[in-house]
Amino acid sequence: MNDRLILVLDEGTTSTRAMLYAPDGGRLGVAQAEITQYYPQPGWVEHDAIEIWNRTLDCARRMVEQAGGPDRIAAIGITNQRETVVAWDRRTGAPLARAIVWQDRRTADHCTALREAGHEATVQRRTGLVIDPYFSATKMRWLLDHEPALRAAGASLAFGTMESWLVWKLTGGLHISDASNASRTQLMALAGEGWDAELCDLFGVPRQALPEISDNAGPFGETLAEWFGLPIPIRGLAGDQQAATIGQACLTPGDAKATLGTGAFILANRGGVVPVSHNRLLGTLLYRLSGERVYALEGSVFVAGSLIQWLRDQLGLIASAEETEALARSVPDNGGVMMLPALAGLGAPHWRPDATGVISGLTQGTGRAHIVRAALESLSHQLCDLAGAFAADGAGWRMLRIDGGMSANDWIAQDLADMLDLAVDRPADVETTAKGAAMLAAVGCGLHPSLERAAAAMGTVMTRFTPAMAVGRRTERLARWDALIARQLAG
Ligand code: G3P
Repeated sequence: MNDRLILVLDEGTTSTRAMLYAPDGGRLGVAQAEITQYYPQPGWVEHDAIEIWNRTLDCARRMVEQAGGPDRIAAIGITNQRETVVAWDRRTGAPLARAIVWQDRRTADHCTALREAGHEATVQRRTGLVIDPYFSATKMRWLLDHEPALRAAGASLAFGTMESWLVWKLTGGLHISDASNASRTQLMALAGEGWDAELCDLFGVPRQALPEISDNAGPFGETLAEWFGLPIPIRGLAGDQQAATIGQACLTPGDAKATLGTGAFILANRGGVVPVSHNRLLGTLLYRLSGERVYALEGSVFVAGSLIQWLRDQLGLIASAEETEALARSVPDNGGVMMLPALAGLGAPHWRPDATGVISGLTQGTGRAHIVRAALESLSHQLCDLAGAFAADGAGWRMLRIDGGMSANDWIAQDLADMLDLAVDRPADVETTAKGAAMLAAVGCGLHPSLERAAAAMGTVMTRFTPAMAVGRRTERLARWDALIARQLAG
C-alpha cells in the first residue's frame, strides 16, 4: 500500500486535469485538457458535461498508464469547480441541458425577487450564503423552468455539481455529493444534516433529484472496471476552494489562504463553530470527516486569472499570462490607470451581479504596460476589500498563504504583501487544490490517519513575501480604489 499512488481529478472552470501524487506529496505527473466555454448571451456561461467527462476520463487514463497500471493507484481524490449545475437522466446517464457555470448571472432577477420578498436574512442565517446567482439553487430552478427535457425526465431527473456528475459516471450510477460542495448549493443548512426541506421548497428544487451528502473522505464506491481496466476506489471529494484550504494545511482556526485561479477565493478556517458574517462574507463548510464538521469564512472574488485571459484573448494586449510580470515591472506605477474587473459582476463583499467593468484614467501617455499593471493591481485591491470585511467580522488574517496559477507571479505576490501589509507565504508547489484532494484521498484510504498527519507527510516549503511599500503610496492607492468603487457602484 505505502508505495502506491494517489490519482487526483481536478475539474476546474477552464481546464480539467489528472495528477499523480506519491504518498510524500510529490507530484509525479499531470495531464490537462481545456474545457470549452459557451457564452450564449451576455452574463451566461455554460459547459458541456459530456465534454468534461470525456476529457477528464482521457486525462485520468493517461495518468493511470504513467503510474504503471490501475493496481498502482491506491485511491482517487476528486476536486472541482463548485456551484456549477449539471442535470442528467438517471436512466441514460445523459445530460439534459448544458451545465450552468458558477459565473453565470441569468438568475439575477429571481435572486432580486427572493431578496425583495424578505428571504435573505433567513437564507443567510441557515446556509451562510447571501442570495446571489452564483449559487446552485436558482440555477437548478432556472433549468426546471426553461428546459423541457428536465420536466420530461420526471423522477429520473438527477441534479449534481461536478463531483456528483463525475462520481456518477466513474462508478456507473452512484449519486453522491460531499458536504463541502453541497454547502455551496444554498440548499444545505450549515448546522443541519442533509438537504433542508424548507430551502428546497423556497427555491423550488425537488429533493428527490439531489444526491446523498457524504463526508469528504471515505469509501465513495469504485470506478467501473471498463474505465481503467480494474476498479479503483474513490476516497476523497471536495470543492476546489475547500481542497486548496486543506492543501495549504490551513487546519487550525485562524489560518487563511487565497487561491488565485479563474477567480480568487479566500477561506479562513473557523473551526467547529458555524461562522456568521455581518459584512457580506460567506459561511461555508470546509470539510466533514466522520460526521464532524469544520467551517470556514469565505470571500469570493469572481475575476482574477480570467482577467488576464481576457487581456490576452479579447483585447490581444498580451500573448501569454507570463508576460504580465515583466510588463508590470517595466513601468514605475500605473500611470493613473485604474481597473475595476467586474467582468462577471462583483462578488464579495459588494455582491452586485449588475456591476460592469471599468478602465479609468486613460491619457495619450497610457501604454499597455500601464493597463496590465492596473489589472494586476486590481487583484490586491479586491483582496484588501475582503481583508477589511474579515477583520470587521472578527476574523482578521494573521497570515495569508497564496496558491493557484496566478500566485506564481512574483510581482503579484509582492504587491499583495505590500497592499495587505501582511506577510504572504507561497508554497513551492502552487497546485494546492489537487494537493488537498490527494490528502483527503490519502486519509480516506487509510494512508494517513488524519489531515494533520497527511499535511505533515505531504507538505512543501514556502517562500515568504514581506511588506515593503511606503505607507503614503499604499494609502494613496487605496483611496483611489475606494473612489473608483464608490463612483461605479453609485452609477
Ligand atoms: O466557486 C467557484 C470556484 O470553485 C471556481 O474555482 O479554480 O475554477 O477558479 P476555479
